[in-house]
Amino acid sequence: MILSGKRILLIIGGGIAAYKSLDLIRRLGERGASIRVVMTEAAQHFVTPLAVGALTADHVFTDLFDRQAEQDVGHIRLAREANLIVVAPATADLMAKLANGLANDLASAVLLATERPVLMAPAMNPKMWSHPATRRNRATLEKDGVRFVGPNKGEMAEKAEAGEGRMAEPLEIAAAVEALLDDRPKPLSGRRIVVTSGPTHEPIDPVRYIANRSSGKQGHAIAAALARLGADVRLVSGPVAIADPTGVTTIHVQTAREMNDAVESLLPADAAVFVAAVADWRPESEAGEKIKKADGDGPPQLSMIENPDILAGIGHHSRRPYLVVGFAAETQNLLANAAAKLEKKGADFVVANDVSAATGVMGGDRNRVKIVSKSGVDEWPELSKAEVAVRLAAFIAERLKTTAV
Ligand code: CTP
Repeated sequence: MILSGKRILLIIGGGIAAYKSLDLIRRLGERGASIRVVMTEAAQHFVTPLAVGALTADHVFTDLFDRQAEQDVGHIRLAREANLIVVAPATADLMAKLANGLANDLASAVLLATERPVLMAPAMNPKMWSHPATRRNRATLEKDGVRFVGPNKGEMAEKAEAGEGRMAEPLEIAAAVEALLDDRPKPLSGRRIVVTSGPTHEPIDPVRYIANRSSGKQGHAIAAALARLGADVRLVSGPVAIADPTGVTTIHVQTAREMNDAVESLLPADAAVFVAAVADWRPESEAGEKIKKADGDGPPQLSMIENPDILAGIGHHSRRPYLVVGFAAETQNLLANAAAKLEKKGADFVVANDVSAATGVMGGDRNRVKIVSKSGVDEWPELSKAEVAVRLAAFIAERLKTTAV
């Protein structure tokens, strides 16, 4: 486990998102980290030191002037002994304090005294987040080396307000912590890898489109796994309901043509992995206005034309990446179809998966794939999509090993 033996100091600021920090403690603990907690005075209005202490099985530090705690551990030791300091929720106030070097309570004193990396998970009202003062403070903190995860868009505690300001989910924060503390070898550092993921949406009129069931889970997991091995990953994602993976630059597109343009603009690359379920066809023209269900006219006739085949275009490109990996989603004749795609699209490998409804692959969390190349077929067991991603990233790293960075 990446976090085993790692010490994390969690600073809980005063905001309603503090309840999520209890889950964060559990998530970090599950991953092998040992966690110490500092709570601001405001945080104690939202969760109690008793609850936090029950989860960490440790003293919870709340007061800069607590003589006993200062004698036992002291704020300087708190600041130095951790491998990483996580501030969650990071309130506008805590951000402002650190950006300006204030240190009038335990949390801010620890933040000023540390030389360890700091990760902030901001949570505040969207107006506070977009205020020029907070934006300034964030820019200052980033310049000083502070890392950020979130905030996300979505519903706020004040139901009427929506916007950017929700704290990142505990799992996202845990992933960001893992990415920061991951000291495993990075065989893909210096490599640029392009990944496509998710479905595409092909517009019919301003309100309707043609799409498919792809969730983006597999493509996003592959992008994240490649980034964990040190690659500079550019993920071109169609519309999906999942978060951008951490450590990856994500470019959002809607249509196959936009995805194609984005991928082309990202060349040259060392490798490209085409996981997206690109719509093969699109309506020939997009109606400028919503198509009305006029009496007696019957359903509209959609005339379809072919979309660019992104993988085939890159597989035969003059600036073709060294390694081109395709996917083959099939409901029948899996191996024969995958082998044909390998040839036709100019890929080095095709990851073939059976997506017939009974397998539950589309939208599900598990996958059973076969790696088809000119030299044969390698069958992998049924794995979670995250495990498939990790194995595929290692496989790609192995293939790129012999080429110059
Ligand atoms: N692909 C692509 N651009 C397209 C269609 C597919 O880049 N317009 C890529 C997919 O990302 C995948 C591979 O091609 O890596 C195969 O996709 P798949 O949907 O299985 O194959 P198709 O070429 O669409 O063939 P068919 O639908 O006939 O099986």
